[in-house]
Amino acid sequence: MALIDYATLKKLLFKLDPETAHTLGGLALRTVGALPPLMRFFAARNYIDHPVLRQRIFGRTFANPVGLAAGFDKDGDYITAMPALGFGFTEIGTVTPKAQPGNPKPRLFRHIDEAAIQNAMGFNNKGAWHMIKQLKKTRFFDYPVGINIGKNKTTPENEALRDYETLFKAFKDYGTYIVINISSPNTPGLRDLQNEAFIREVFRIGRAITDRPILLKIAPDMEPDQAIALCRTAVDAGAAGIIATNTTVDYSLVPHPRSIGGISGRPLREKSFTLFRAIAEELYGQTLLISVGGIDTAAEAYRRIRSGASLVQVYTGLIYRGPTLARDINQELIRLIKADGFNHISEAIGADLKN
Ligand SMILES: Cc1cc2nc3c(=O)[nH]c(=O)nc-3n(C[C@H](O)[C@H](O)[C@H](O)COP(=O)(O)O)c2cc1C
Repeated sequence: MALIDYATLKKLLFKLDPETAHTLGGLALRTVGALPPLMRFFAARNYIDHPVLRQRIFGRTFANPVGLAAGFDKDGDYITAMPALGFGFTEIGTVTPKAQPGNPKPRLFRHIDEAAIQNAMGFNNKGAWHMIKQLKKTRFFDYPVGINIGKNKTTPENEALRDYETLFKAFKDYGTYIVINISSPNTPGLRDLQNEAFIREVFRIGRAITDRPILLKIAPDMEPDQAIALCRTAVDAGAAGIIATNTTVDYSLVPHPRSIGGISGRPLREKSFTLFRAIAEELYGQTLLISVGGIDTAAEAYRRIRSGASLVQVYTGLIYRGPTLARDINQELIRLIKADGFNHISEAIGADLKN
């Protein structure tokens, strides 16, 4: 995957509409994942498994802290290819109980000068049953996988709990962790579920069904106090972690916004960091924190780690920086950690926090 210069490949891919480019990328990954020699070749180049970065989390070994964020592999079709891309873990989904087509196309846009993406995909996915089939196929593959769950578009808000209950039951014995996604801007009314009553109830239901760690993924478009209160409610209700953040609907962040969808990538960076940091100041040490949003360099990943993130995730950076991004970040992280005089990532996590 470092065989072809990504700058050249990107020129070609960026001539295609974004969704076609994504489909091609998926095809390449599926091919790599299905061919063990190819897989071993790329994993040997890109997958950093290093004692400085290796962590035990949720009873599993994470070889490195850089994961692929939700939404890239919506159906769990590329799980076995993830070490080839160098990721220490992957979050599949968002999966809904029933398959659904998502929003009408076009629904995926690039803001090239800003290294950003605007997406209004709307949870296009093949449904829980397809994902279970994929997870069954990969059950002997020892790799951390998060399962990100959401409600179907046609499910009314007052019945949303039932969708999450269905999904907890479906995935109760799968994956390394489960994520409640109520932070996508592309399912009407979904973000309204970011309220304390819903969070309390959804975690109560989830906890009764599965022993798997359940995490909450939040939106960046909240006041810090509100986000902290929601996260605290989630932790009190049994959340094993917080993922901050999803995409933003602050369209002032790019010069030529589309009228739909959420913005990810570099323009989201500071907004995502600020909210993450505010949450970490309150909740670091009480729950596992994962930071995502605008991370495309080791320096940025390290800033999140020093601010309390045990793990980080990327999506948009992969599109702009290419398939060696995770490797590049991990190699540089080892250097940064050592340069600060630490022996292990755990010593760097939260080093910048006040408490
Ligand atoms: C095309 C696209 C689809 C996404 N789909 C999902 C999704 O299904 N569920 C989810 O929780 N987040 C989804 N996200 C949000 C990402 O997981 C991530 O939180 C966000 O993009 C910020 O990270 P980034 O700046 O590194 O891209 C999606 C993002 C993009 C760009």
